[in-house]
Amino acid sequence: MISLGVLVSGRGSNLQAILDGCEEGSIPGRVQVVISNRPGAPALGRATAKGVPAFTVEPKQFGKWPGCKVPYEQELVEVLASHNVDLVVLAGYDRLAGDTLLNGFPMRVINIHPSLLPAFPGLNAQKQALDYGVKVAGASVFFVDLSVDGGPIIIQGSCEVHENDTVESLSRRILETEHRILPEAITLIAQGRVQVHGRKVKVLP
Ligand code: GRF
Repeated sequence: MISLGVLVSGRGSNLQAILDGCEEGSIPGRVQVVISNRPGAPALGRATAKGVPAFTVEPKQFGKWPGCKVPYEQELVEVLASHNVDLVVLAGYDRLAGDTLLNGFPMRVINIHPSLLPAFPGLNAQKQALDYGVKVAGASVFFVDLSVDGGPIIIQGSCEVHENDTVESLSRRILETEHRILPEAITLIAQGRVQVHGRKVKVLP
């Protein structure tokens, strides 16, 4: 059983997929703690509804940007470590992870992004995909490094782009893919089937 810590900022539908997967047993793991950088994030309620400890830790509690970044992440590491977290999952967490968080959990921080990376990193990936005119979209789960959505890719899932798609309709379709592949990636890691060789991730059978 892998012990998970999930960082969130908003709606928390990916967190919900993880909580449900753990409860149903499709993910061999348990969410030990959920931390939001935004007070009142709906994701916090999803955690408490399942009896999972949920906290808000805001960067501004630690002073002004950018001075607050290190002490803010030190607090994240402390809360995660005190809940015996093995793997940190960024699930709709809207900040870039820094050295302090990444060094606290080396190659143990993963993120989900709503595009087929390396296409469309950063904000508004679904709009970027629509504006570009791609015919296939999707989502990627990757190990977080200091780049923006550029770490080694663990798993990707694709979906069609329809001619009459809006950002909303495409986002909904991509989100279904996210809810499938994020639990799958966590399961692969929990099963010890994921090896990282430089940029490449090998998934053992
Ligand atoms: C998802 O599209 C995720 O890929 C992106 O932010 C969104 C979060 O949605 N990083 P939710 O909070 O999990 O519902």
